Amino acid sequence: MIEPHGGKLINRLLTGKEAKEAKKKAAGLKKLALTPFEESDLEMIAAGALSPLEGFMGRADFDSVLDQMHLASGPAWTLPVVKSISAEETKSVRAGGEVALVNQDGTALAILALDEIYPHDKKKHCQKAYGTEESAHPGVARVIGMGDFLAGGKVSVFERPGHTKFLEHRRDPAETRKIFEDRGWKKVVAFQTRNPIHRAHEYLQKCALETVDGLLIHPLVGATKGDDVPAEVRMRCYEVLIEKYYQKERVLLSVFPAAMRYAGPKEAIFHALVRKNYGCTHFIVGRDHAGVSRPDGKGFYGPFDAQKIFDEFKPEEIGVTPLFFDNAFYCRACGSMASEKICPHNSQDRVSFSGTKVREMLRAGEIPPPEFTRPEVARVLIEAYQTKEK
Ligand code: ADX
Repeated sequence: MIEPHGGKLINRLLTGKEAKEAKKKAAGLKKLALTPFEESDLEMIAAGALSPLEGFMGRADFDSVLDQMHLASGPAWTLPVVKSISAEETKSVRAGGEVALVNQDGTALAILALDEIYPHDKKKHCQKAYGTEESAHPGVARVIGMGDFLAGGKVSVFERPGHTKFLEHRRDPAETRKIFEDRGWKKVVAFQTRNPIHRAHEYLQKCALETVDGLLIHPLVGATKGDDVPAEVRMRCYEVLIEKYYQKERVLLSVFPAAMRYAGPKEAIFHALVRKNYGCTHFIVGRDHAGVSRPDGKGFYGPFDAQKIFDEFKPEEIGVTPLFFDNAFYCRACGSMASEKICPHNSQDRVSFSGTKVREMLRAGEIPPPEFTRPEVARVLIEAYQTKEK
């Protein structure tokens, strides 16, 4: 089994008596509210998905991650995992003490051992994590809306964020690792996604699976930007697709509780490292991984920047083998799915649609061609679009 990042799977989840005592203690502490984004990070820290992190980053890690793409303690890491607070809140809490972290409903979830409070360098955060300060970038917009200070320290979670959705697909890193072991999978490839599955995704997954033992389909179900398709709909698409088109003993569908950062290349590294914690040895990086476009359609990142960034690390620093894919599509002349790398034909032979065109078709109740989307998936999407419009 592959080692977790930093060598040890972190567990910051208290149970039994310890959890009860922490909960009691938290009731008497000053409270800091978590955004849904921070709550996703808290859950992932607790479950070891962000190993070796044991809490929200202090200044040394924040700077080191942004300047050097490594944690201050050495391991590769590309994106800040931080808890922001307002200037007002800094008046009521102090470094060296403990605070309770509460969710949006005011339910206490964890104790933060507050090591330090430091100014949130938003300019640096945006420039280095997202490569831009344009507020049209959803990651930048989020950073702008965050507090002006950051609160760093270890967390001890006594109440897991409550979930009502996808319960049968929620598995912590220790659980996916156990499943891979029980199934005898030595090489496991992970697929990150935030969009409804289409034929190109299926092609990437199946090409990758040809060379390894198992496939972890790991759709992100934390916060996404408003116009991304909701996770419930995406999960239904996966369920109908796997039912009919996948070799079930070779696939595990599980949700990834993270929020989407839209940090392109830096998020590709982050996604790969985190999937290593879930026990995966390989990770798929296709065209414009975790990318996002400006309102005029121009991407914030180059289509293959998320692949090139892997060259900036020694393979052992990442530990997971990235599997790179060129732009994939159905080619009528090839009579199969293909990619720029293997298909000699031109665009007239290739079935490709813009996201806008596909959305228009689905809204009108039209099934896109099967070369683009499986009809079973299209039906789930049409139903979702039509219910939403009512
Ligand atoms: S992402 O934000 O999670 O990357 P998405 O769900 O669209 O978005 O993509 C999941 C993975 O499939 C990413 O690695 C992405 O690069 C890859 N991908 C999506 N569509 C294509 C395509 N047509 N050709 C090649 N790779 C693709």
